[in-house]
Amino acid sequence: MRELNELKHLAIIMDGNGRWAQERGKQRVRGHEKGAETIREITMFCSKSDISFLTLYAFSTENWKRPKTEVDFLMRLLSDYLKKEAEVYLKNNIRFKAIGDLSRFSSRLLDEIETLTQKSASCSGLTQVLALNYGSKDEIIRATQKMIKAGVEVSEENLSRFLDTAFAPDVDMLVRTGGDYRLSNYLLWQSSYAELFFTPTLWPDFTAEELAIQIEEFKRRKRRFGGI
Ligand code: FPP
Repeated sequence: MRELNELKHLAIIMDGNGRWAQERGKQRVRGHEKGAETIREITMFCSKSDISFLTLYAFSTENWKRPKTEVDFLMRLLSDYLKKEAEVYLKNNIRFKAIGDLSRFSSRLLDEIETLTQKSASCSGLTQVLALNYGSKDEIIRATQKMIKAGVEVSEENLSRFLDTAFAPDVDMLVRTGGDYRLSNYLLWQSSYAELFFTPTLWPDFTAEELAIQIEEFKRRKRRFGGI
């Protein structure tokens, strides 16, 4: 039986890249670049812990509304990241997965996502999941459509099976950096009983040390899952 305070699935809303850059008189995209380094640090930390799944909100269904130059930069950064990180994933036994509606990405980016997914498919350590063109409402609608198409009963269990995250357990702990207190359409179904953590630290400044302190608090919290 699963222990109540076991941390199997950690989800993070990585917010504050733009402000981090602006505070330093830099262009917003420099914050995204630094944010990519934080992804590396946090992923390595998680891969050395007992955490099995780390799901990062990298690009939301709403992020397309940003200026084209920023969207283009994020796509290039993602593409570089997928290519450069392949070696690190394999060396550290990290499996890569992407969730979200990937159909909107370029065929080149889709190839890069697919290549890393395939290359790392047999890694048995941490699974790092990037949420790309992801929105929880969109995911629930897509899962419902698949459920209807498959002709299965509409139930909680079946919906979970048709979500993009079907391979992972529900989220145990959800962290949002950047000072805001909202979920921004992120893993709403999967986080029904997640413990929530909000920090004013901007994502580029977030560290494994701060995450370790939050995890200590997570372990002290009493999770009742609706019971007493
Ligand atoms: C929010 O900062 C951040 C995002 C748009 C998503 C996270 C993106 C990265 C960490 C960049 C690197 C990603 C990969 C996968 C290589 P914001 O721009 O909303 O910050 P603000 O609230 O200060 O404006």
